[in-house]
Amino acid sequence: NKTVLTGITTTGIPHLGNYAGAIRPAIESSQTTEARSFFFLADYHAIIKCHEPARIRESALAIAATWLAGGLDPNKVVFYRQSDVPEIMELTWALTCVTAKGLMNRAHAYKGVVQENVEANAVDPDKGITMGLFSYPILMAADILMFKATHVPVGKDQIQHIEMARDIAQRFNHIFGETFVLPEAVVDDAGMILKGLDGRKMSKSYNNTIPLFEDEKKFRKLINKIVTNSLEPGEPKDPDTCTLFGIYSAFASPSDIVSMRKQYQEGIAWGEAKKQVFEHLNELLKDKRDAYNQLIQDPAEIDRTLRLGADKARQEAATLLSQVRRAVGIAPLA
Ligand code: TYM
Repeated sequence: NKTVLTGITTTGIPHLGNYAGAIRPAIESSQTTEARSFFFLADYHAIIKCHEPARIRESALAIAATWLAGGLDPNKVVFYRQSDVPEIMELTWALTCVTAKGLMNRAHAYKGVVQENVEANAVDPDKGITMGLFSYPILMAADILMFKATHVPVGKDQIQHIEMARDIAQRFNHIFGETFVLPEAVVDDAGMILKGLDGRKMSKSYNNTIPLFEDEKKFRKLINKIVTNSLEPGEPKDPDTCTLFGIYSAFASPSDIVSMRKQYQEGIAWGEAKKQVFEHLNELLKDKRDAYNQLIQDPAEIDRTLRLGADKARQEAATLLSQVRRAVGIAPLA
């Protein structure tokens, strides 16, 4: 029983990395296999780091429209907002009570902030860390375990969280009996972590993203802003360390990649490489961009779609949650 599940945090406008790393492989798998699919907007995850309600709302609309413009069929896939399925929050607590603090101490997301604080010589290494951030992987485990997901398509940066979900599931099963299915991360072969404008991982938190459906003019400008090095035209360039090449590769066919690689070795000028990358991506994305711009005109329709998805999700969630309650001893007395 293959069940595919993945989510996107609603704190920003979807970028090339989100699309290549998660949205595109998830949609492709939903179109080509008989697996059941659950795709959702992780809006309770959003409030962990973002305390700007307007930004979260705008992001939720943009992310929902991106999934739909990308070809997700809401009749085939269970497509919903995390917050419309309150059972997930209830499951989070049950899981919190079997999760070792030591496991959470190892989470990259939390450790990253501690590290930054230490490097900045902050008096308190926990500065700015909420309990939400600390236990973030438990909420994510609840998302996954709730629907007995077997396959979780994500970018490499999320693999640790899926492994933690497995650990938490195993712990619960060990204490209370077989309840949860152990999930596996699925990382698309082409789904290397895309780097952003400045060469660091493309990420909302670094402000270095290229929005997937940016309008054509701005899109061209952003591609031109991608940091390269100072090698002159005619000097061979190394594709494997190049942000621009990485972005191209995530959107090009194997034979296009081979010929771009050759052009790098022959010393293509940066301006020319950027022009080719822009043209290729623009061509590939423009129909979807038009569809996206249509969809965001009608948020009420998107809400309806999400609510229908949540109804389906809640039916399943209710069944699993009552199993969990019974397992731990929280059940009617009679
Ligand atoms: P989020 O919102 O940070 O990212 C969404 C998805 O996009 C992938 N991704 C990337 N892939 C390639 N290159 C990049 N530069 C890049 N940036 C992001 C991420 O790996 C992710 O797959 N915690 C999750 C959301 C979540 C979730 C879940 C995912 C909540 N519950 C349950 C799967 C299952 C997150 O913050 O992703």
